[in-house]
Amino acid sequence: MKILGTGSAVPKHTVTNDMLSDYVNTNDEWISTRTGIKSRQIITDERFEEMAALAGQRALDAAGLVPDDIDFIICHNVCNVYVTPSLAALVQHILGLKGPNCPTMDINSACAGFTYGLDICESFLETGRASRILYICAEEVTRMVDWTQRETCVLFGDGAGALVLGKGDNYLASKLTSTPMPDVIYYRLPCEPTPFETGPGIDTHMPMQLKGREVFRMAVTSAQRDIKDVVAKAGLELGDIDYFLLHQANMRIVDAIKQNFDLPQERFLHNIERRGNTSSASIPILLDEKIREGVIKRGDLMVFNGFGAGFVTSAAVVRY
Ligand code: UT7
Repeated sequence: MKILGTGSAVPKHTVTNDMLSDYVNTNDEWISTRTGIKSRQIITDERFEEMAALAGQRALDAAGLVPDDIDFIICHNVCNVYVTPSLAALVQHILGLKGPNCPTMDINSACAGFTYGLDICESFLETGRASRILYICAEEVTRMVDWTQRETCVLFGDGAGALVLGKGDNYLASKLTSTPMPDVIYYRLPCEPTPFETGPGIDTHMPMQLKGREVFRMAVTSAQRDIKDVVAKAGLELGDIDYFLLHQANMRIVDAIKQNFDLPQERFLHNIERRGNTSSASIPILLDEKIREGVIKRGDLMVFNGFGAGFVTSAAVVRY
């Protein structure tokens, strides 16, 4: 697998920490010191699926390709208003792909999903079942939280990151894990009532619930383990890696992870201060921004690392 192009898109409305104190009992000082977040982008009048498609179009432009050069669209999304059709099918429609020989599907592995999806893309490319995949991670997490709960609503932002992937030898190693802990982070949508249901499932809706401290500890521990494991699996040393792109959940999590490694601090890239936590979109948005800024260059070795509800974790070593 090889990255042919990247793109990203975020909503136009930037919400600062001070603006949030109009809605919940919070302040810039608490949010900045506990999370590193200063602002985030939140969907107002945008259509979520159009934001995802825009990120995809930008990745196609960067790759010098047109939509009909793509023969598979895979989207990662935790939640949006359409349960069906898939986000990938909606993106196919918006981008004007003719079909029918471009299958579409969505996957969901929470905030660790970016690398889960990369692994699936690698499988389709390396077995020859696809030649160019448009892979988009798009999330509107701000619509999953309760906007009266200051513990969660201040953490998140919306956005989409996209990659065009082709055949190549640049996907050097990966590691995916899952440990059944369904109550550390969860969000339940309302479902339609039926005349037959008698169990507790009738009232299914629950805005996002998060055991923040537990997630924090598990994220730091798993990242330190997964990063070492995946770099060794690739036959490399930690010092060989040019850049580490970790899920942007909390700057203190990134800081705690990097303290464990005797490496130059600037190798751990971040944008959480401007973007908040955009779930599975956080790593591909960061990747696209750092490529466009000229920080990440062709040939650089990168480690991606994520964690999220499940509890799932993921890591990969990729050469740009
Ligand atoms: O992407 C995967 C999902 N992301 C995560 O799960 C994030 C991982 N966890 C974290 O990043 C941190 O645990 C948080 C940022 C969520 C919370 O930070 P913390 O240092 O663990 O704070 P805490 O939850 O222990 O709360 C400390 C205090 C509490 O007050 P008391 O009980 O000490 O009086 C909270 O009520 O901070 C209070 N607090 C707030 N105060 C002002 C919680 N949220 C806020 C807020 N503004 N927004």
